[in-house]
Formats: sequence, structure tokens, C-alpha cells
Amino acid sequence: MSTTIQAGYLVAAVLFVLGLKGLARPRTAVRGNLLASLAMLVAVIVTLTNEAIVSWPVLVAGLVAGTGVGVLLATRVQMTSMPELVALFNGFGGLASVLVVGASSDEVLGTPAEDVTYLAAATISALVGAITFSGSVVAFGKLGESLGSWSSSLARPLNIALAVASVVLVVVFVVDPGWIWLLALVALGLMLGLTVVFPIGGADMPVVIALLNSMSGLAAASTGFAIDNSLLIIAGALVGASGLVLTGVMCVAMNRTLGNVLFGSMASGGVIQDPHDVYDGKVRSASADDVALILDSARRVVIVPGYGLAVAQAQHAVRDLTLALEKRGIEVVFAVHPVAGRMPGHMNVLLAEAEIDYAQLIEMDVVNPTFAETDVAIVIGANDVVNPVARDERSAIAGMPILDVDAARTVVVIKRSLSPGFAGIPNPLFAADNTLMLFGDGKEAVVGINTALNQL
Ligand code: TAP
Repeated sequence: MSTTIQAGYLVAAVLFVLGLKGLARPRTAVRGNLLASLAMLVAVIVTLTNEAIVSWPVLVAGLVAGTGVGVLLATRVQMTSMPELVALFNGFGGLASVLVVGASSDEVLGTPAEDVTYLAAATISALVGAITFSGSVVAFGKLGESLGSWSSSLARPLNIALAVASVVLVVVFVVDPGWIWLLALVALGLMLGLTVVFPIGGADMPVVIALLNSMSGLAAASTGFAIDNSLLIIAGALVGASGLVLTGVMCVAMNRTLGNVLFGSMASGGVIQDPHDVYDGKVRSASADDVALILDSARRVVIVPGYGLAVAQAQHAVRDLTLALEKRGIEVVFAVHPVAGRMPGHMNVLLAEAEIDYAQLIEMDVVNPTFAETDVAIVIGANDVVNPVARDERSAIAGMPILDVDAARTVVVIKRSLSPGFAGIPNPLFAADNTLMLFGDGKEAVVGINTALNQL
């Protein structure tokens, strides 16, 4: 590889690291994103100058096809489907690693370049890439709620058998390299992705998404070793490591260990109450006018956003409500649960889009002790993250830390019906004595409260 290409890769690597550093803080995130995009541009341009990699017609065909699919997805996919798209992108990363290793094996197998480093890197890419691809496709279906959770007592032994068979195949391929073993490894990886991710459901999905993200980076880094590309190793390692950190954050947020998530299904265990027992005759609904009256006499209001806020695209209406309340001298803060929504940081991004000050976004551990001094907690499109059954060790989401909104003097829950959230569990908060349900679309309900407040 020429010195110019190596120098270009070095510049891109430094830009990737600076970009990632910028993404760690909301105030520098936009700059971080730009730096990382610039790094990718430099990487692509530098790679294109290396004609030895692949022929120009193939490169141009790949660019045209990739750009076409990218533009199509970017213009067609709704903002609410972004989490599914991100899951699919992780999967494409894994698939790309499998394909690149397949292509390089075609050149390397049976030649002197077939050394242990190559063989070990190729097996990791093939296995991890295949797991990432099929696992991400299942995650895509689950996030879009087109796939449910499959669980069986056979799942654990099956996964263990597949994992052992994979390790055996890795050794066999390194000792006796051949296409048949590589293809068998890819097939096993695809099966493992399916059988591991299918049983995981409910509130455990955030951990899985972060892990798949990390695995796509690991597959890319090992592909970098296989094809001797330093930038791929660095970029893959950055994705792998940051994904692993995020997986740890998600495990802490859910009060789960990784082993627990992967081998003990949250969705399949625990008691799920009958919705009729939870709600019948106990739910009190209110109108936007009622809520405006209550808010008018409040001193402190905590707004809890959830996935429904994203569906309703209510963030701008929420900003207007915040300003109207603040004008009346009412303190307003936002309580953000780490897994609210469908992707890490989902609520932060939405609220930032509406220019809500980051200083007003309070993390779960900090805001929880303050609910007892809160006059009104307004829950907008959130459900699982405020479900008090998580405190019951027999429940299906036992141990998941929640926002303690039920400690507020009055709780207003805005959603369209009594239907459950992502974990599929009824929520007794909706039937609590201090809760009022404002049924309707999140945006329309908040606009309604705003109008009523202005008329007081
Ligand atoms: P959920 O528990 O999923 O509840 C969302 C609620 O929004 C639903 O009950 C729904 O009720 C309501 N809703 C939908 N559209 C609405 C609209 N237009 N207006 C008003 N309300 C609307 O959301 P959450 O509390 O944010 O919890 C997140 C869940 O997703 C957790 O279980 C979490 O583990 C899981 N998850 C999170 C992630 C990440 S990384 N954040 C990834 C995968 C899964 P109605 O239909 O009655 O309106």
C-alpha cells in the first residue's frame, strides 16, 4: 500500500477518533458528527485511489447501487422507523464483513498468504458477521413489531450446541483451511443470530441492539486484519469498543447482566396480569381543560417523554407547553429514562430537535428522588419506563429501574388507549389514585392543553 494511502488513512483515523470524542457530549455532538462524516469521506476517496483493491467498473457499480439504496431509504423511511433502520444498518455491516472475507478467501486460500493471522481473522469475520446479520434482521422485525418473541426450553441447549459447533469449526478451518468449513461457519453464524435474538424480547431489546452494533464493529476490525487494511481495523475497533461501552450502559440502565439478557429471557418469564384486573373501574380520564387547570396551580412540573412522543412528533408542541408554563413561573424539567423510545438517546435527539435546553434534561437517578416534591408529572407516550410492576419481583420486567412518577402529587398520562408498551405488560400506574389519563394523540393533546392554558 502506497505511503499516500497510508497517510490518508492516518488522517481519517484521527478524524474518526476526534469525531467520536465530540459525540460524547451534546454540545459538541454536531461537530463530532461532521468530523466523523469527513473521516469517512477521506477514507472512501483514499481507498478509491488504490486501484489494486478492485476494478473501477465494480467500484462505480457498488457506489451507484449503494447511493441509490441510501437515498431511497433516507427519503422513504419515516423518522419513527429510524430505530429499525439503524438495526438493519448494523446487519449490513456484518454482511459486508462476510462478503469481503469471502472474496478475499477466494484469492488467499491455497496460496502462501494463507497464514494463521489470515485464517483466524477470516473465521472471526465470517462467524461474527453472520451472527450480526441474522440477529439484526430479527431485531429489525421486533422493533417494527412485525416479529414477536419465540421462546422454548430448547433455546438454551440449542444455542450452546451451536456455539460449541462454531468453536470447533473455527479450529478446523485454521488447521485445515477450505471453503466448505468457511461456508459451514457462516451458516452456523446465521443460525446462532436467529436462535439467540429470537427469544430476547420486551424490555431487553436495548441491550441487544447495542451488542449487535458492537459486533458489527468487531467483524469489520477482523476483516481489516484479514485484508490487511489498517483503517478498517481502527474504524471497526472504534465501533466495537464504543458499542461495548453502550452495551454496558444499557445493562446498568436495565439492571441486567449481559449473560442474563442473552440466556435468560425477560419477556418469557414472570407474571403478566390480566388488563381487566388492572384497569376495570379504576381508570380516571381527564380533558385538556382539566389538565390545564391543574398545571396552572403547580409550582414544579416534570415531563416524561416516551416512544409515543416520537410517534406523535409532539416535541415542538411540548416545547411550546414548557415555555407557557415557565412564563407562569412554573419550574419545568424533563425526566429521561435511558431506554425510553426505541434507540439509545432517542428522547434526547427529539427534544434537542425542538431546541429544548439540555440543562433541563435530568437523568433517572437524579430526578427520581425529586418526584415526591413534584406537583404534576406529565407522561407523554411513555409506558414501560414508568411501569411500577417492575418493583414486583414476580413481574415480567422485575428489576428494571423505572422513573418513579407515581410519587408525584398528580400524574397525567397522555396516550391514545390503555394498550401496553413494547414489553406488552399492563401498567397499574394508569389506574392509580393520583393518575389522570388524557386519552388522545400526544401532539393533539399537548396542543389542547396549551390552548386551554392560554385561555385561563
Ligand atoms: P413504550 O413502553 O413502548 O410505550 C409507548 C407508548 O406510547 C404506548 O403505550 C402507546 O400507547 C403510546 N403511543 C404510541 N403512539 C402514540 C401517540 N401518537 N400519541 C400518544 N401516545 C402514543 O415506550 P417507553 O416507555 O418509551 O419504553 C421504551 C420501551 O422500548 C422499553 O420497553 C424499552 O426496553 C424498549 N426498547 C427500547 C430501546 C431503546 S435503545 N431505547 C430499543 C428497543 C426496545 P397507545 O397505543 O395507547 O397510544
